[in-house]
Parts: sequence; structure tokens; C-alpha cells
Amino acid sequence: MAPGNAPTQTVGPVFKSLDEKPTATVSSEVGYDNVRVLPQTPQLIALLSMIRNKDTERADFIFYSNRIIRLLVEEGLNHLPVIEHDVVTPVGRTYNGLMFQGKICGVSIMRAGEAMEQGLRDCCRSVRIGKILIQRDDETAQPKLFYDKLPEDIAQRWVLLLDPMFATGGSAIMAVEVLKSRGVPEDHILFLNLIASPEGVKNFATKFPRLKVVTAFIDEGLDEKNYIVPGLGDFGDRFYTI
Ligand code: PRP
Ligand code: URA
Repeated sequence: MAPGNAPTQTVGPVFKSLDEKPTATVSSEVGYDNVRVLPQTPQLIALLSMIRNKDTERADFIFYSNRIIRLLVEEGLNHLPVIEHDVVTPVGRTYNGLMFQGKICGVSIMRAGEAMEQGLRDCCRSVRIGKILIQRDDETAQPKLFYDKLPEDIAQRWVLLLDPMFATGGSAIMAVEVLKSRGVPEDHILFLNLIASPEGVKNFATKFPRLKVVTAFIDEGLDEKNYIVPGLGDFGDRFYTI
């Protein structure tokens, strides 16, 4: 009951009739085969609503971001190669299963991408993680590369590239160029991202058609300062400092 005992409207589970269900803004359509948008479930939209809200405090921003990151990592892992793997159950029957094939590593685009590292570690124990420090210029939005530290055998690994915000695409493109310069094949890179702009997706998917992107949402566009709209503001500031 709401304050004053006024009845509240309950919304939600699938057994509600269509005209009782809430409507919500869902991700824009994507026209690229190599870009996968997470299913726009009520749960995902509710999590995104928490992190987009300007009044959400840092502890909640971190908690709900982490939940979305976990969904992205779980979906991202579905795009890695598997081989058949039969196992025998305790009742003596065979289950025709699967097993991951190959080595992986994470690479975070610092600073904000580091926020996605724990979600990857939670799913892939002891995963190796490299770093690329790229910062966007506040005025021009042009990315600048400062530093990278990557596993020496990265060319033999599947790379999960981590950055929550995908605005112009400049930072992600620069990071992929670093990875390619170390011998990582384009089709061995998977870019995991929370919120993308249509402009960023187009730039990136056109330039790297064999690289897969998994994102939670493609937003309306960019504002005059190249921030994603409606977006969530500056992810790094909200996760680490505000
Ligand atoms: C943000 C974000 C991306 C980049 C996206 O990082 O985490 O790396 O901007 O913008 P783009 O697609 O136009 O390149 P920022 O450089 O602000 O640094 P931060 O991670 O320290 O916040
Ligand atoms: N970086 C962010 O953190 N947010 C944006 O909207 C764009 C770049």
C-alpha cells in the first residue's frame, strides 16, 4: 500500500494482460549482423532505469551496473567457440554437453572499462586481464592513447574488450587498433558494452565487420558534447567518484 493506504498499481509479470503492462523505451533496432543487443526484458530495462537516473547514488549505481555487466559477460561467453563434451552423471547416464575451447583474456579500456573486470572474473576464474588507457579529450572528444599492458600471448587468445560507454566509437576503435597491432585477429575480439550510440555502432561495425559487439542498449544519439543521450552521464565519474 502507498502512503495514506491509497492502492498502488502493480505491474510486471507476464500473466498481466497486455493493456495492464507498462510500456518502456527499448533499444533502437540494429542493422548489423555483428552487433548483438541484449534481450529487452523488464529486468534489464529496470536495471538500466536505475543507472540512468541522475538521482541514483553511487552505491546503487555500482550495484545495478554490476548486474548488467554480468548479463553482458554471460551473453558474451555464448559467442566463444565450444566443442562437444560428453559427461556421465551420478546415475550412470551420458549427457551430451559442451565445453569451452581456447584461451581468453579481458582487456579493459581505462578508466571506466575497469568497472567491468570483476563481472568477467566472476564468470571466468583467474582470467588474465590487460589494460589500455585511452582518454577522450573533454573539448574535442578525440581519444588519446596513453598506455597499454597486454598479455604477451594475446594473439593466441580470444579477447573480451570492456568499456561501458560507446559514444562516437573513437576510443573503442583505437583500442581495437592496438589489439590488431599485437596480432589479435579481428574476429577473435568481442566488445562488451552497456550503452551505445547509433553513430558509434555504425562507425565501428563498418570499420570492423568481423568483430562482434554485445551491448545492453543502443540509445538515441549524441549531444553537442558527444555524450550519449539519453545516456547516463559520465560512467567513470559515477562509478568511481561521485
Ligand atoms: C569514456 C568511456 C569510453 C569513451 C567513449 O571514457 O568510458 O572510453 O569515453 O567515448 P567515445 O566512444 O566517443 O570514444 P573517458 O575517456 O571519458 O574516460 P574515463 O573512462 O576515465 O571516464
Ligand atoms: N563517456 C561517458 O562516460 N558517457 C558518455 O555519454 C560518453 C562518453
